[in-house]
Amino acid sequence: MSSTAVLGCAWGDEAKAKIVDVLAKDADFIIRFQGGNNAGHTIKFNDEKFVFHLVPAGILYPGKICVLGSGVVIDPFALITEIEGLKNKGINFENRFFIDPRAHIVLPLHKELDGNSEANNNHTKIGTTKMGIGPCYADSIARTGIRFGDLYEEELLQERLTNNYYYHEYSQNGVQAMAENLMEAGKILQPYLKQIPYMWKENKDKNLLFEGAQGTLLDVNYGTYPFVTSSHTIAGGIAIGSGFTGKIDKVIGVYKSYYTRVGEGPFPTELLDETGEQIRIQGNEYGSTTGRPRRCGWFDAVAANYTAMLNGVDEIALTLLDVLSGIETLNICIGYRYKGQKIHEFPYSTKILAEIVPEYIQLPGWNEDISSITDFSKLPENARNYAATVEDLLGIKITIVSVGAERRQTIFR
Ligand code: IMO
Ligand code: MG
Repeated sequence: MSSTAVLGCAWGDEAKAKIVDVLAKDADFIIRFQGGNNAGHTIKFNDEKFVFHLVPAGILYPGKICVLGSGVVIDPFALITEIEGLKNKGINFENRFFIDPRAHIVLPLHKELDGNSEANNNHTKIGTTKMGIGPCYADSIARTGIRFGDLYEEELLQERLTNNYYYHEYSQNGVQAMAENLMEAGKILQPYLKQIPYMWKENKDKNLLFEGAQGTLLDVNYGTYPFVTSSHTIAGGIAIGSGFTGKIDKVIGVYKSYYTRVGEGPFPTELLDETGEQIRIQGNEYGSTTGRPRRCGWFDAVAANYTAMLNGVDEIALTLLDVLSGIETLNICIGYRYKGQKIHEFPYSTKILAEIVPEYIQLPGWNEDISSITDFSKLPENARNYAATVEDLLGIKITIVSVGAERRQTIFR
């Protein structure tokens, strides 16, 4: 048995799914353990584009088993639409897609609450995806949530919904209709229900690949709180959200060659100039869930060291290196100054993070299109140097470089 985790090490959108997709061929199980359909994972395969929100990207490999652990939050209506879309593209789900009955259900009410708090001036605007993720996790902790397994017990479901609506001071009038809709969705999703922790017990000799959603800087505990998502995105979230308690043999930290962020919150290396715009255009940096333009900035080695530490990153996948082609001088942030003083730790306070001044080193860029290079030694010297600098700053080896969205646009080292 082996276990590998692919985790986003910035603010999400690090092209995790592309890395999962290339590694999935050696895995038996691909598992999501947190997040919901706030994730947007795009994969290009045979010139066709697949966008995933809830289904693990590994589903593209025939025969691989894909799992949503108890830590994932599930909008059953969105999931059914996603599955139907993938089935229409010829993907088979039979006996290879499973959901833990403990996974919480994202209700339409959660989306409403998410939208309301984002629109309320008395509430800090987070810039959420408005998918109801935060309110759903909040209900799970408040013990007022509905779980996937509840969709199969009519009386219990009605009771849980009544309780939930009461908690939110929401009209009870809709309980009956919502219970019926949920049970209908439950019927469609019933073949996928499985107690996931037993799968690990029964499959001790298999290879597991854990697919992270969002990124470490969005982790609810260790991210840039309160500008975070509501789940545990770091390696520590794997045991909680999947019931797998073995050791993770290899943690692959996915780092973008530059940084991006969607939504509100501090972003020390953000570029508000033409270079930021150039990166946005070259990298097509628009959200795959919300279509919002992503904020773009330089690689931040202070943040990167922090996220490597929190995940115990063993190896780096450096993604979207092709996007930097044509930028004359590249910057990498190597330190922070706060009120003139050098600080050595990534600040826990977003207020401080918003005020720090990044210190940069400058590296010469390259003009060549590198998107069809498959051998590291064939990259332009300055691109190799850029990657080597990231390795030196983090003290971790880059084993994968991604130079495009297709499987073939991957350099293994
Ligand atoms: P993937 O998996 C980038 C961000 C939102 C917002 C904050 C909270 O594609 O990398 P939420 O809706 O989760 O309550 O929003 O988190 N966010 C993401 N940013 N990629 C994602 O997922 C994200 N999922 C949530 O923009 O700032
Ligand atoms: Mg995304």
